[in-house]
Amino acid sequence: MAKDVILSGMQPTGKLHLGNLEGALKNWVSLQNDYQMYCCIVDWHSLTSDYAHTGDLKERIFEMAMDYLASGLNPEKCAIFVQSQIKEHAELHLLFSMLVPVPRLARVPSFKEKRKELGLDSYGFLGYPVLQAADILIYKAKYVPVGQDQLPHIELTREIARKFNSFYGDVFPEPEAKLTKFPVIPGIDGRKMSKSYNNDITIAESPEETTVKIMKMYTDPKKIYKGDPGHPEECPVYLLHQIYTLDYEKIYPVCHSGELGCVECKKILAKNLNKALELIRAKRKELEENPEIVKSALESGAKKAQKKAKETMKDVRKAIGLCGAS
Ligand code: TRP
Repeated sequence: MAKDVILSGMQPTGKLHLGNLEGALKNWVSLQNDYQMYCCIVDWHSLTSDYAHTGDLKERIFEMAMDYLASGLNPEKCAIFVQSQIKEHAELHLLFSMLVPVPRLARVPSFKEKRKELGLDSYGFLGYPVLQAADILIYKAKYVPVGQDQLPHIELTREIARKFNSFYGDVFPEPEAKLTKFPVIPGIDGRKMSKSYNNDITIAESPEETTVKIMKMYTDPKKIYKGDPGHPEECPVYLLHQIYTLDYEKIYPVCHSGELGCVECKKILAKNLNKALELIRAKRKELEENPEIVKSALESGAKKAQKKAKETMKDVRKAIGLCGAS
């Protein structure tokens, strides 16, 4: 039986960090065995908010593709590709745009938030979730692994699929979000890890750089001197221990009693974290030295994506009754 299709997407932010690794990549790597996976690097989406800074776009895409492969995405199982190489996404976006009322888009939470925060008001930005619907539906995806914040976009995708099908006949499935539960990864300042906060630990950096960052990490502010009792449940260092230190339970009582100082505690974390990343980093080094491997993965991914996107667009043009639908 054919495997169910999963489509996932990420904006090309460049080098990926622990938050991306724990929140998305590891999950994708485990899904690729049971599903037909498409991993789309959504460069057009990044233009909706960052159209003025495209000088390093190609590099950001490449860095991300390296992290994908280093983390264990296998190009034989999973099509890794760049959105702008599959022009059919744009055609489907255009056709979908006819079906979506502008006030409906203006109510999408991410639009309302970012519009204020970043002062965005473009036609393209308003259409962001319509383009996302095209990304998903062009592969007739059944599941979309996303975080909570993306649920309104998946809901809109389902509405578009329903509306299309009701006008033109059954072409699209109604995809479902596959919510991934994962711990929020704290950055070195204690806030959520994010490239834009400049508090991230990347896959690509060296173990030495990681150690320096960990040693600078924000800790429980009530523990000032070694000997002061700590509050591990409020400490981002302890949160990372829970992921990267096998016997992290042993840290809790000695931090709590004051026996373990923050410096020592961070040294243990840095060692364990670097150990956990060792294989991924080694693979990444290998890819940096052999960029042709990455290029060919992106080419084969684009080929697979292209084939499926072409098939769907044939169905779509035929269903609507457009010319060129043979
Ligand atoms: N909006 C998604 C995000 O910000 C990125 C994205 C674009 C996406 N197209 C997609 C995610 C398709 C899943 C499926 O994370």
